[in-house]
Amino acid sequence: MSEVFDRLWERLAPLGRHRTTGGYRRFSWGPADAEVRAWFTESARALGLDVETDRNGNLWAWWGAPGPDAVVTGSHLDSVPDGGAYDGPLGVVSALAAVAELRGRGLRPRRPLAVTVFVEEEGARFGVPCLGTRLLTGAITPDRAARLTDAEGTTWAAAMAGAGLDPERIGADPDLLGRVGVFVELHVEQGRALARTDAPVGVASAVWPHGRWRLDFAGQADHAGTTRLADRNDPMLPFAETVLAARAAAHANDALATIGKVHVAPNGTNAIPSRVRAWLDARAPSEAALRAVVQRVDSAARRSAADHGVTLATYLESASPVVHFDRALRDRIAALVGGAAGPAPVLPTGAGHDAAVLSSAVPTAMLFVRNPTGLSHAPEEFVEPADRHAGVAALTEVLAELAGAGPEGQA
Ligand code: HGY
Ligand code: MN
Ligand code: MN
Repeated sequence: MSEVFDRLWERLAPLGRHRTTGGYRRFSWGPADAEVRAWFTESARALGLDVETDRNGNLWAWWGAPGPDAVVTGSHLDSVPDGGAYDGPLGVVSALAAVAELRGRGLRPRRPLAVTVFVEEEGARFGVPCLGTRLLTGAITPDRAARLTDAEGTTWAAAMAGAGLDPERIGADPDLLGRVGVFVELHVEQGRALARTDAPVGVASAVWPHGRWRLDFAGQADHAGTTRLADRNDPMLPFAETVLAARAAAHANDALATIGKVHVAPNGTNAIPSRVRAWLDARAPSEAALRAVVQRVDSAARRSAADHGVTLATYLESASPVVHFDRALRDRIAALVGGAAGPAPVLPTGAGHDAAVLSSAVPTAMLFVRNPTGLSHAPEEFVEPADRHAGVAALTEVLAELAGAGPEGQA
């Protein structure tokens, strides 16, 4: 089992990795994305799976006829800018390795089984995370999705068409979703909870509510060397105060708030900016705490903008409500994965996932694989080889159990 995982991993690892940062830049419909999609298709076919692309560009590798009541597992291959190797790919490679293991044991699932790769999970290029599953489930309209643009102004529709797919077809796919009986996603833990235990694999209980907001501060461009302080309408100042307000609001509400992306125009050393565009990522253990954080940040931003003669426009780019995973499925999987040692650890996460979006339509569950440093969305993201293989072993048992895998030839 580990040889198959290692071989698949070795082939995937160099694709889309930046030569100086060592981080990954796999953005939807770009060249690196084409490479990893080709890698997946070739690897899945080599395992005897039939690969289909759904109307939204998600990849489905089927073992047996597609549905009904299929057991589906998978994750994503796109990354954040300079992301790590494991966020997404660990779930995809582990799923392929688990299929190889079941086949190697001469087992055949009694329910159809599929391995999936969902598009634009990070929202790194087009801004809305889990776009492939939001489209699939109807959580976003095709019209809004088609008009999403990247930093260069390229729309989702144009980028998709550039990759050879028809953007006119995007949208909810109840027929395909109707074939899915259960979805299980294996993912690197994006935290250190498991690192404090002797369990290499845990099970997700919930995803925190979270969202992304864009804040546009508009001031007056002017000369850095000749404009008196009293005459300035500098959008950089309310932006700076908003960054500090976000940290304070998160701290006050036991929540998380990050401003990690900012565009300054015209971005000149000797020019007072005309505009500062910033994105707030906020997450909290409850909807009430999330609202409190966002309200406090919004008030601080508006107050500071007014103080500096700057206008502020804010936009909700994506909202993800709290998701509690299917309890019976969660507990069944925790018992299976934990084995004689007792149920595997069950833990919440602040990270969004396709499994959370899909839970609106089908029972879903997540396996987390131990991350010794907890680092993620960073080139240093790592999983020990033994834990990678433990994840494959756990997923193999879960798939065998859910799909009722039995010896080849037995009805
Ligand atoms: O940002 C997240 O929550 C995840 O990595 N998409
Ligand atoms: Mn991620
Ligand atoms: Mn991920």
